[in-house]
Amino acid sequence: MTQTNELTNNLSHYPELAAKQHHWQHDFRSDALKGKTILVTGAGDGIGSASAKTYASFGANVILLGRTRSKLETVFDWIETHTNTASVIVPCDLENLDSETVENLADSIAENFGQLDGLVHNASRLGPKVPIAHYPADEWQKVMQTNVNAVFMLNKGLFELLDKSANACVIHTSSSVGREARAYWGAYAASKFALEGLNQLFADETETAGNIQVYSVNPGGTRTAMRKEAYPLEDPSTLPTPEDHMELYLALMCTADQVSGDVVTFTTGQQLDARTWLQRTS
Ligand SMILES: NC(=O)c1ccc[n+]([C@@H]2O[C@H](COP(=O)([O-])OP(=O)(O)OC[C@H]3O[C@@H](n4cnc5c(N)ncnc54)[C@H](OP(=O)(O)O)[C@@H]3O)[C@@H](O)[C@H]2O)c1
Repeated sequence: MTQTNELTNNLSHYPELAAKQHHWQHDFRSDALKGKTILVTGAGDGIGSASAKTYASFGANVILLGRTRSKLETVFDWIETHTNTASVIVPCDLENLDSETVENLADSIAENFGQLDGLVHNASRLGPKVPIAHYPADEWQKVMQTNVNAVFMLNKGLFELLDKSANACVIHTSSSVGREARAYWGAYAASKFALEGLNQLFADETETAGNIQVYSVNPGGTRTAMRKEAYPLEDPSTLPTPEDHMELYLALMCTADQVSGDVVTFTTGQQLDARTWLQRTS
């Protein structure tokens, strides 16, 4: 098991992230997220897996929620091997999420961790890329259920736990087509517009109390399975990797006292673009 220490550059256990670290303008304490509990949806693959591994590498206990148990187990095993944190697996198909499941999840988090300091809404269903006139109605429901309704239910059901944290952070993972729609993106685009709406609502409702920061992040084209599904002919090597975005994901999750360097201040409700952020630091 790798011991975390005070040095910020001890990421030798995670070479894909270590390779990006020399571009970072933020200097994160290696224990920047120690004692925090962060739930990541879609934690078994792509950006969700990288987020979970990154947060655990900086000391957070990560709740790995996702659809495919074997993928979650791979991330869980990695975290167990390389960090001193306590991760938990929650196999859950968000397409079937109901109030009872959310209540049980909230009870379990309360019992095991007491509060929730981070919630990364990352899981998403792409759905078919076809014109509205041909869009299958059942697919539309599945995409909206996974990408919007589940996010609302988790924000609602986990709110009390987030509110218990002195500094909680909620990240809604958006998309370019959730900010400007393009033909054939169907329910996926509509769902991401709804997610942007949820982001604004939740930020406005929590702004006065000040202990929950809420953001929307558009990763932009990133080298993952979903991107391959959307653009099968694209050369993946031309795209940023999930680890390229982890400075931003860490900066959003960390409080100012855990970071030094060229520190960026965020405003709750802010819409962020990970590709723009990356250009800023490269
Ligand atoms: N990659 C890009 O270029 C890009 C661009 C813009 C926005 N995004 C957004 O970034 C986020 C992450 O996507 P990614 O590119 O990292 O995709 P990914 O590698 O395909 O990962 C998506 C994750 O979501 C999980 N998931 C999907 N449906 C689910 C459900 N019903 N219940 C629970 N988990 C479910 C998947 O589980 P399984 O592994 O079991 O399928 C997978 O772990 C998404 O919100 C996506 O819309 C990505």
